[in-house]
Amino acid sequence: MSVNKEVKRITVHTLRRMKSKGERISMLTAYDYSMARILDEAGIEVLLVGDSASNVMAGHETTLPITLDQMIYHASSVIRGIKRALVVVDLPFGTYQGNSRKALGSAIRIMKESGAHAVKLEGGIAVRSSIKRILKAGVPVMGHLGLTPQSIYKFGTYVVRAKEEEEADQLRRDAKMLEEIGCFAIVLEKIPSKLAKEVAESVSIPIIGIGAGNDVDGQVLVTHDMLGITKEFHPRFLRVYLDLYAEIKKAAQSYLQDVKSRDFPNEKEQY
Ligand code: KIV
Repeated sequence: MSVNKEVKRITVHTLRRMKSKGERISMLTAYDYSMARILDEAGIEVLLVGDSASNVMAGHETTLPITLDQMIYHASSVIRGIKRALVVVDLPFGTYQGNSRKALGSAIRIMKESGAHAVKLEGGIAVRSSIKRILKAGVPVMGHLGLTPQSIYKFGTYVVRAKEEEEADQLRRDAKMLEEIGCFAIVLEKIPSKLAKEVAESVSIPIIGIGAGNDVDGQVLVTHDMLGITKEFHPRFLRVYLDLYAEIKKAAQSYLQDVKSRDFPNEKEQY
């Protein structure tokens, strides 16, 4: 695997160039300094401070409870860990829907207080005015369509979205609209791969998929899922690269045993 070392800092323009050259974009979530540092060093181009922190960091059932203050805390920790990656931060539920002034205020707080490079928010036409206002202030925006977890109580389930023509058509229109108003990229979550391919071919901005097949411009996964830290989550789209849950548990059990048996610390491990 070769990482493009010529690129110093990844910007929204880098991503656009990558799409035009057919170079795939890698994106993973990060919520803390230590993980961000590892992922950045590994060469991942985009780190997403996702509101999935609500699930994997805080143990909530949905992404809805996480607050703007909490997202800013996670984002500023991530920013301190990176040298190269573009850091995108989710605007949490309730901080941008319905009121574009409030949306701008939320985006500005994220940019000012965390040092992040861009924001992401869920939805199409319903949040158009919020996105326009944020963009007008000079803040890059990534869209998010398809399965949008902040709307889980409207959907009722986490099943594949846009299988029916009506919803697929709306998604096509939303993607075009997001491109036209100036979003720099769009995440498409859990939609049929044929539809994702069609959308990726119809817009000039990068389409980053999660559960959207291989014919898009890049992929994103929740880091805790692909490292096997989360346990009860096995969607078809997920590739698990490590069983870190078992590894960490094994290490903790070895430590426990060493403490109980008084093996730790030994002579060399003390002053
Ligand atoms: O919050 C998140 O992790 C996300 C990804 C699933 C795209 O939005």
